[in-house]
Amino acid sequence: MLVPSPWRADFPAIAALHRQDQTYLDNAATTQKPQALLDALAHYYANGAANVHRAQHLPGAHATQAFEDSRSKVGQWLNAGDSGQIVFTHGATSALNLLAYGLEHRFESGDEIVISALEHHANLLPWQQLAQRRDLKLLILPLDADGLIDIDAASRLIGPRTRLLAVSQLSNVLGAWQPLTPLLAMAKAQGALTVIDGAQGVVHGRHDVQALGCDFYVFSSHKLYGPDGVGVLFGRHAALKHLRHWQFGGEMVQDADYQHASFRPAPLGFEAGTPPIAGVIGLGATLDYLGALDQQAVTAHEAALHAYLLQGLQARNGIRLLGTPQLALVSFVVDGVHNADLAHLLTEQGIAVRAGHHCAMPLMKSFGLAGAIRVSLALYNDSEDLERFFEALDQALELLR
Ligand SMILES: Cc1ncc(COP(=O)(O)O)c(C=O)c1O
Repeated sequence: MLVPSPWRADFPAIAALHRQDQTYLDNAATTQKPQALLDALAHYYANGAANVHRAQHLPGAHATQAFEDSRSKVGQWLNAGDSGQIVFTHGATSALNLLAYGLEHRFESGDEIVISALEHHANLLPWQQLAQRRDLKLLILPLDADGLIDIDAASRLIGPRTRLLAVSQLSNVLGAWQPLTPLLAMAKAQGALTVIDGAQGVVHGRHDVQALGCDFYVFSSHKLYGPDGVGVLFGRHAALKHLRHWQFGGEMVQDADYQHASFRPAPLGFEAGTPPIAGVIGLGATLDYLGALDQQAVTAHEAALHAYLLQGLQARNGIRLLGTPQLALVSFVVDGVHNADLAHLLTEQGIAVRAGHHCAMPLMKSFGLAGAIRVSLALYNDSEDLERFFEALDQALELLR
């Protein structure tokens, strides 16, 4: 095999999917899980579940310890410094909504929020709705021909009224690293807060939030081989202080009487109610697993697979790529073929890829497309997965053209 994956056997679902004749290439939507995660979940549930941060009993102490260990592991994963800057949420979407509600009081009519043209709905709609609530301007940074945020345009659009910049690190449609360093510098020069949507970026390579210098960084556990229902909001201490509490209930409160209450600071003040305990513990176990891999080997493997995918697509007639994908995924359309028809025929042949607008409708509209097919890769994929995809693609195109 041209590009084997040494980590494939660590993910039991890959073999199970194979027995169901399924080739899983929709990893930007969610990933399969390592055995280490399954073991951690089974261990937690088999040895006594308990709520965290409230019980004085032994199972409660164990659960709290494991939960807080995960917070430290996430902090280390991002090189966040103090893990008190890690808030657990229910996903990237809920982290971004937390920010849009928690920062709302800082905006005045006419202030500007800057995002880019490629944002996932999760990093568009919370800001769009905030702009509507507070009579703000939502400015959209355009893209250059390669699908990168246009830095020249950004230097014109980011200005003295900019109060917040929120952009993706890696597009879930275009598969390209965005020029965060100059963008963050421009926003900071204007005194604006900065938010990075790391939902896709966190999955590829290791990122250092202190070196990045952003105020906030969000991601979802389930895309990083971890359990679903868990998200992470990193916020610098100074930035977290700007957040107003947004969800109210158990454990986030310091003191309450019938008419008034005071609330805890971050992180616990932003984790109202029972958090996803097993999921957070499972994320910690997933990071232990990932941290033990040779990161350079993983990056080289992903690059080789991506090159193989690109070559295969470029060798076929009539296939148009969206942007200039650098890693992780490729989105494409085929001249004269409707993406839904193609997706249907791929599905019938057991190829699990994503078709549609990829939760980035405005971006698709800017390409004049209703949708596209996206093939997205994970560390457990190998070149045989792609061979099966190419075979199914050829069959489908023969039928459709
Ligand atoms: C770039 C990007 N941002 C945000 C999200 C939202 O993640 P979640 O649905 O896990 O909250 C996604 C999910 O596809 C994404 O790709």
